[in-house]
Amino acid sequence: MKEFIYYSKTAVTAGNLIKDDLKKAGRLDIVCNVIISVFFISNAMREDVRLHMIFDGGPNNPRHLVMESNKEMPISKKNVAGLIKRMLYKAKDEDGLREIVPGCSIEKKSFEKVVMDLDKEGKDVYLLSGKGKDIRELKIKGNEVFIIGDQDGFPNDKKKFLKKIDKVSVGPKILFASQVVTILHNEIDRKL
Ligand SMILES: C[S@@+](CC[C@H](N)C(=O)[O-])C[C@H]1O[C@@H](n2cnc3c(N)ncnc32)[C@H](O)[C@@H]1O
Repeated sequence: MKEFIYYSKTAVTAGNLIKDDLKKAGRLDIVCNVIISVFFISNAMREDVRLHMIFDGGPNNPRHLVMESNKEMPISKKNVAGLIKRMLYKAKDEDGLREIVPGCSIEKKSFEKVVMDLDKEGKDVYLLSGKGKDIRELKIKGNEVFIIGDQDGFPNDKKKFLKKIDKVSVGPKILFASQVVTILHNEIDRKL
């Protein structure tokens, strides 16, 4: 299972704040592009992929949203924002993931805790960064977790927390998060 963690400092955490203009919902337009790149290929959905998203915008942050491709997730490219809205409306503050629709769950959990828990599970966690080791030099085991920042990268407290995590790069240019996902998928497709 390939896993991604997308951290958004700005994505809103209440369903009623999501209206027509997704940019005004804390750059949910970018989040939707990331989701599409993680799960969709031409005429099909990728298998064996899990996406963790941490929304750290107000008013109910942090929210940890999980989407997983193997569980008949009811997602289409047109309804991505609608699905997020539904998940945020149904979120509760109690501990533990709540499955809202098949393959889509949500809970209140911080970015740090999500990363630490995956690390404790024995996953190989990497931070995507233009300054990292070339992805082509990485030996892919199939249990990797790739952390990606939002339009502004990571705030200072998160950067400090991420200091000890190995960095990998997909190339010399700084790309959109969704482009990084596409390249990463492609590099792994070529290796496996
Ligand atoms: C739009 S970029 C962030 C740009 C932000 N101004 C910065 O410098 O961090 C979004 C995320 O994509 C990832 N990223 C962008 N270019 C990359 C590259 N060449 N290799 C690996 N990851 C990259 C990083 O995780 C980054 O936080």
